Amino acid sequence: MTVEINYKSNSSKKISSNYILFVDEKFNINDLKKYTSNSEFSYISDLLKTSDLKKDLLFFEINSKKTIFLVSIKKDIKTSDIEKLGAKFHGYLNYDKKNDYVVNSDTVSNKIKNFVGYFLHGIKLKSYEFNIYKSKKNKKLVSISVIGNKNRISIQDQLRFKALEEGTFYARDLVSEPGNILHPDEYAKRINSLKKFGLIINVYDEKKLKKLGMNALLGVGQGSIRGSYLVTMEWKGAKDNSKPLAFVGKGVCFDTGGISLKPAKFMEDMTYDMAGSATVVGLMKNLAVRKSKINAVGVVGLVENMPGGNAQRPGDIVKSYSGKTIEILNTDAEGRLVLADALAFTEKKFKPKFMVDLATLTGAIIVSLGSEYAGLFSNDDKLTNQLMKAGEEVDEKLWRMPLHKNFDKLIDSKNADMQNINYVGGAGSTTAAQFLQRFILNKTPWAHLDIAGMAFSKYGGALNSGGATGYGVRLLNKLIEDNYE
Ligand code: BES
Ligand code: MN
Ligand code: ZN
Repeated sequence: MTVEINYKSNSSKKISSNYILFVDEKFNINDLKKYTSNSEFSYISDLLKTSDLKKDLLFFEINSKKTIFLVSIKKDIKTSDIEKLGAKFHGYLNYDKKNDYVVNSDTVSNKIKNFVGYFLHGIKLKSYEFNIYKSKKNKKLVSISVIGNKNRISIQDQLRFKALEEGTFYARDLVSEPGNILHPDEYAKRINSLKKFGLIINVYDEKKLKKLGMNALLGVGQGSIRGSYLVTMEWKGAKDNSKPLAFVGKGVCFDTGGISLKPAKFMEDMTYDMAGSATVVGLMKNLAVRKSKINAVGVVGLVENMPGGNAQRPGDIVKSYSGKTIEILNTDAEGRLVLADALAFTEKKFKPKFMVDLATLTGAIIVSLGSEYAGLFSNDDKLTNQLMKAGEEVDEKLWRMPLHKNFDKLIDSKNADMQNINYVGGAGSTTAAQFLQRFILNKTPWAHLDIAGMAFSKYGGALNSGGATGYGVRLLNKLIEDNYE
């Protein structure tokens, strides 16, 4: 289903269409008389007497062509809960045969700015589906017109919602694509096409990466017939040359585990092992579409982790971009190798205000936090607090996990500066994060988000209908909006 939102509509659609009206927590409908006919009003009044007013969404079928929906906006409701109400309403759209709706923003006096916008945003986010490989598509098109004079959403805020939807959907598209389509060569091309939004894109191919000495990243991709890449996306929206905010993503287009091959069951899930990078790309697209007034840079490492005659072996030692050497004890701990070079490069080249990396890095984070929280590891309390707060607000939650020098001995190697796994066992997500921290060389505030449990949802969540979630785009957009814009 595609949902189209039309903000510029006039009031002439009134009365005849399906109507969405906002009411207070008591379902007080006295103010709604002017939007309904007398018979509709008394019909609804009667039914309300026997309705469960604890619900937040009620619908009244006036006739086969018209339904009136009442959405109750409780006092002090959080914006993320309004989005969820929109997503819930989307459920009705699925069953309903009608496809023309009117939302009236007049009908509740509410202190929450843009509550209608959040409601519509929730509908839109939930409506996403990835069906390009289905011969039979759900062709239903629903159009929602917004009318009313009170609580109007400014053109600028409309654009913000729209850009965020586009960025989130772009990230979801990338994550949803299977490994045979979105391999590193194709991925690099797609990112390059974002030039048209004003992003400055630089693609470093294998030849350039070799020159730069990014052997940790290159080692992961060397068993694949596809290329390996590091791609940077710069957005210069600030008037000055202020330091950019940096976002770094793991882009393992498919993770077989390499020579340390994964078991067959659920290996197909490893097509979403590039979700961290997809979030970064989606975020950068969002910033460019809405012409954010900040400087930001996105950096993604794109590789395919395959076994093969040229693949990296357990026991191999590589020299990373930072100069530090790494003994590869398990080729399936590849994400940290890609990020090690991407982080060190980002810090050196862009001298950012902070770096946030996102990665489907460890299965262990799913053991700890399931799919409720992403793991957050950071060397900086201020950045941590900003991220946690943004996460609460958009309901893309984070839970802080420890970093500590005592974990270092678990990844010290006899033969090189470090090894890529902890052989003793335990603290799988922390040792991975502790490994990454070794590549932050200039004390730049840094946070690592392990999103292995968040990027993909088999059964769907509040704001997505199953599949790629786009986790992180809205979180990081909120971080930027609230603290840096
Ligand atoms: N991409 C995986 C982590 C992962 C697992 C993401 C499940 C999403 C769902 C990562 O590259 C990996 O294989 N990690 C290993 C590390 C181990 C070899 C130290 C893991 O978590 O088992
Ligand atoms: Mn792996
Ligand atoms: Zn992986």
